Amino acid sequence: NEQELVVQALLPVLKDHLDAAAIAKLIEVPKTSDLGDYAFPTFTLAKIFRQAPQQIAADLAPKINADNFEKVQAVGPYINFFLDKAQFSHQLLQTILQQAEHYGDANLGQQGQVPIDMSSPNIAKPISMGHLRSTVIGNSLANILTKVGYKPVKINHLGDWGTQFGKLIVGYKKWGSEAAVKADPITNLLKYYVKFHQEDQAHPELDDEARDWFVKLEAGDDEAIKLWTWFRKVSLQEFMKIYDMLDIQFDSYKGEAFYNDKMAEVVQMLEDKKLLKKSQGAEIVDLSAYNLNPALIKKSDGATLYITRDLAAAIYRKRTYHFVQSLYVVGNEQRDHFKQLKAVLKEMGFDWADDIHHIPFGLITENGKKLSTRQGRVILLENVLNDAVDLAHKQIDAKNPDLANKDQVANDVGIGAVVFHDLKNERLNNFDFNLEDVVRFEGETGPYVQYTNARAQSILRKAGVDLKQQTDYTLADRSAWDVLKQLAEFPDMIIRASKEYEPSVIAKYALRLAKNFNKYYANTKVLVADAEKPARLAMVASVSQVLTQSLALLGVHAPKEM
Ligand code: ARG
Repeated sequence: NEQELVVQALLPVLKDHLDAAAIAKLIEVPKTSDLGDYAFPTFTLAKIFRQAPQQIAADLAPKINADNFEKVQAVGPYINFFLDKAQFSHQLLQTILQQAEHYGDANLGQQGQVPIDMSSPNIAKPISMGHLRSTVIGNSLANILTKVGYKPVKINHLGDWGTQFGKLIVGYKKWGSEAAVKADPITNLLKYYVKFHQEDQAHPELDDEARDWFVKLEAGDDEAIKLWTWFRKVSLQEFMKIYDMLDIQFDSYKGEAFYNDKMAEVVQMLEDKKLLKKSQGAEIVDLSAYNLNPALIKKSDGATLYITRDLAAAIYRKRTYHFVQSLYVVGNEQRDHFKQLKAVLKEMGFDWADDIHHIPFGLITENGKKLSTRQGRVILLENVLNDAVDLAHKQIDAKNPDLANKDQVANDVGIGAVVFHDLKNERLNNFDFNLEDVVRFEGETGPYVQYTNARAQSILRKAGVDLKQQTDYTLADRSAWDVLKQLAEFPDMIIRASKEYEPSVIAKYALRLAKNFNKYYANTKVLVADAEKPARLAMVASVSQVLTQSLALLGVHAPKEM
């Protein structure tokens, strides 16, 4: 890479004092490219040379072999390096066009498997904005990890077990009907659940009934199982509509219920390791050594809990996938749960507990307020996505009424806007959701990036040249420099995003590239016939390719026209 060129140029004149690694650490990137592409500050050399830094820079600069650079220049206490634009552009554009969608591939993961626990909504409840975040962040991480050589396994750990199913059965039997559930499953099932919570204040006997039904369910009672299976099926059908809209697929839908017959072994292991303690009739694992609350493994009535199922799931995933990392994309409010999960696994002697990573994220708010199912403050995701598509449709009708496949493009733009908006925010930040802001064609939005890509595509269509016939991509024009340098950063961005589990790195990169490209395009006549025209078009094609790739990594489609 280019920084290595700078190190190699400095090494001969500094080798008595600094090694390559020490030099590399000192190299900076100047704020603006008129100060060069890299700068070496001479402050640290002042002690060694017993000279003023300015003097050192002025003395050393002429001694440096500048063959690989446009120029090497001392400015104050810095030695500034200007990359050779002709050489840089030619190599870069050739690489991008040749490698096509493989530009930026890496092999950090060496094909190691990585289960990603993502989406994981609860049966009989609507998918919340929080589940949307988990879904799109998980999906993007899967794409990013694939790009750097891992094999992700996308697992939808459905919330399909727990005492709430006792409540739901009671609610359904008291206030529900088959026809209502068939007509609109989630809305009606949620209604029964909410009504249960309104009524049980005045009628505590409802709670006993619910507990009985859950006990029956756990014991495999026919009627209970039949209802549960049906609720699960119709809920999943509703969830699939949203996954289809988002174009997101899963490798597994093994939810909490899948682990019902796998928990006895876990409890046995805990017992064998003498980790279980009785506390008020319940079985717990003491985690005070980790500064955590005890993990509640079994209730006094024998019922198992969320964490018991997660312990069984973690062990199952290790045995099934031999994972090198195991990710859980779940809201920040479950932070303690995952700390407990890891701690219990550690206590059990599993050293792979360190490979488990909770990937938390912040809340989506509406006018600064938290949304919650219990109080009925939900935004129905399906409505959000449909509204976004409608809004995109209106914008396209206004801007480009004759566009072919308008419906498809409106889908790509509307859905893409919601996904992009979610991913451009750093994972842990809370953010407010306002549809109009999300679907705008200008500003820091997905449609803006898509629109920039479509514009690049239209330039290429107009030019009508075959870039594959091209052999020289030299583009020394100063105005192209920022775009070229940014194109070269793409592989590093992917690696950073994968290490930080942070899709926003890619989203922000795409926004910056789109902005730089639009600035370039506003000031340069790309199609004018001169010696650099083919290289300019190669750059336009490269921008489109990298923007398309960036969007794909986020799980957003890139229409060629819009
Ligand atoms: N169903 C849970 C919820 O909606 C999320 C499950 C997360 N995954 C897990 N393995 N605990 O809060």
